[in-house]
Amino acid sequence: MAHETDQCLKNYKYYFKSDILANKVAFISGGGSGICFRITEIYMRHGCDTVIASRNFNRVKEAAERLEKATGRRCLPVRMDVRKPQEIQDAVDQALSHYNRIDILINGAAGNFLCPASRLSYNAFRTVIEIDTLGTFNLSKAVYEKYFSKHGGNIINISATLHYNGDVLQVHVGAAKAAIDAMTKHLAREWGRDGVRVNCIAPGPIADTEGMRRLGGDKEELARHVKEDIPLGRMGSRIDIGDSAVYLGSEVSSYITGTVLIVDGGTCMVSRRNIFEAERMMRKLASKL
Ligand code: NAP
Ligand code: COA
Repeated sequence: MAHETDQCLKNYKYYFKSDILANKVAFISGGGSGICFRITEIYMRHGCDTVIASRNFNRVKEAAERLEKATGRRCLPVRMDVRKPQEIQDAVDQALSHYNRIDILINGAAGNFLCPASRLSYNAFRTVIEIDTLGTFNLSKAVYEKYFSKHGGNIINISATLHYNGDVLQVHVGAAKAAIDAMTKHLAREWGRDGVRVNCIAPGPIADTEGMRRLGGDKEELARHVKEDIPLGRMGSRIDIGDSAVYLGSEVSSYITGTVLIVDGGTCMVSRRNIFEAERMMRKLASKL
């Protein structure tokens, strides 16, 4: 059963031409839910066909049905764990035999939870690094080797901003996402001559997402955060990220590579949760366990 926020939009306002991604194919990890579901939908509304891939096949299958119905474009659901290179190879092969091409790769699959460093098990830290960082590398390498090296392409990684000022309770994800930012630049330089652009979107707090359900704290905490910490005075929407992904995925940004596009309403300029607040949050969390 899909989360209610993973339904397609009733209305969508176009800022770009509606055929800006026509005849392109995008492969989107984590496209069955949250931010990447909305990116997939907005891509399809701009004429793109898509592949959505994650561990839970029912989730991507049902999402693909909703997306095709709402947009009239094609969406291929594929089961794949980004930690497993063989599954990735098979998923990319499946995508290529279905569409004969991949133009855009979006690395959105990720895992996160709030946890103080001292309470993280070794396996918990490793798990997040494996999904976010290794997963981004594994899938990028497979798509590059199988298609982009000969035809060019466009990679958009999904990072975050929490490592900019060492947000507490997030050492595992901060380390994983900082590595993704670095990888964006390394791969942009190495693969640029093959016609491959590599960029990254760093979302701030995005409403109606699993990420915010896990990290946002309770209602009171969130309301304070929006009021005090976000210069634009509102949470981001998944459409904000989808439209930014259209910009980076289309020819509008054809001379842009190796960048991290921060889409956070200015939040990362303002200092974040301090350790005292974090301790209070942890006590609240612990009392609910
Ligand atoms: P989400 O809905 O939970 O998206 C995560 C997706 O990753 C799910 O579809 C999940 O599907 C997939 N996934 C997880 N582990 C996987 C694995 N090992 N192999 C393949 N797929 C896997 O969360 P979200 O909040 O929309 O986050 C989407 C992206 O935005 C993430 O990269 C996140 O770090 C980033 N971000 C979010 C926020 C925010 O405010 N929400 C802020 C900054 C950055 P399965 O369970 O089916 O595998
Ligand atoms: N706090 C502390 N440790 C946690 C934790 C939490 N909330 N959740 C999981 N862990 C630990 C586990 O205890 C385990 O460590 P251990 O073996 O030492 O006990 C380790 O992390 C791996 O957990 P497991 O459940 O086996 O991993 P998984 O591969 O099945 O799932 C997660 C990966 C943990 C990231 C899971 O939360 C997930 O699938 N997330 C995807 C959705 C998501 O996070 N969306 C938000 C994106 S911003």
